[in-house]
Amino acid sequence: MTGPLLVVGSVNHDLIFRHARLPQAGETISGAELFTSCGGKGANQAVAAARCGASTPGAPGRTAAPVLFCGAIGNDSHAEAQLRTFEEDEIDIRHLLVLDDIHTGLSSIWVDAGTGDNRIMNAPGANRRLTADALAEAPIEDAGLLLIQNETPADGVRSAVGRAHAAGVPVIWNPAPIDEASDPGLDPRHVAWVTPNEVECAVLLGRHGERIDVESAADAASELLEAGYGGAVLTLGPAGVLLAEPGSTPTLVPAPKVDAVDTTGAGDAFNGAFAAALLASSDSRQAALFGVRYASDSVTRHGTQTSFARW
Ligand code: RIB
Repeated sequence: MTGPLLVVGSVNHDLIFRHARLPQAGETISGAELFTSCGGKGANQAVAAARCGASTPGAPGRTAAPVLFCGAIGNDSHAEAQLRTFEEDEIDIRHLLVLDDIHTGLSSIWVDAGTGDNRIMNAPGANRRLTADALAEAPIEDAGLLLIQNETPADGVRSAVGRAHAAGVPVIWNPAPIDEASDPGLDPRHVAWVTPNEVECAVLLGRHGERIDVESAADAASELLEAGYGGAVLTLGPAGVLLAEPGSTPTLVPAPKVDAVDTTGAGDAFNGAFAAALLASSDSRQAALFGVRYASDSVTRHGTQTSFARW
């Protein structure tokens, strides 16, 4: 693939509360540890791709994957750390929208200190403005690979994927988050790789409220291929990922055993690293393995972008 990795998606400022247990309805709990981090699924994936770029298999001697990011932020203090991070990680943000009349996206994240699992509540703010019109000048047709999620308006996602397909640019779609209202209704044939987690995969297959597990993952991935997706990678938490491509048996790429302290952003770490490696070599198995290693490493540290190592 020629051309840079283009990531289109959200930017959030993450406020992360870590406690031994999470509150019930009507309950107040004090004593949480607080971490702040640059976040948002789009920004996280761009940063992960840029930070692991030098080590991507198939790209010996590269200093970093060329990464472009298109998103929307407010003109406020919550965006400042993210702007510094983009600069430090040499991410091209010339198409980032900076808006005066709306706040940068904010996420309140609760992490269970025992398991490292998280719950996220997001106020999208400027992310809501990343519509098809706002993306009109985004250099989608010049990309080597488009990586996009679902945390920005559905019409923008639909338009970006449609334009990429028309220009022959392969698309990785990470359908996170997804529900009936936010589903952009993409033509699966326009998506080279779909990368849902257990819950998102069930929604894509019309099984709302269910969760795909390791046992059912191969059948679920086969269903996604039958629907027309070019390939599927199901992220399965500590079990690793299930990789499925037409013409070969779905394979589990297991994750190394690590001591997880915070799983927030692990899916983003995987997607960024997987995309960077695919762009470098087109070897999907090697890219999945690399993504799993990068994501597993990230869960051993706190926060979202704060947990992504420079490899
Ligand atoms: O995937 C983790 C991300 O989801 C966080 O950074 C949070 O902001 C939400 O976008």
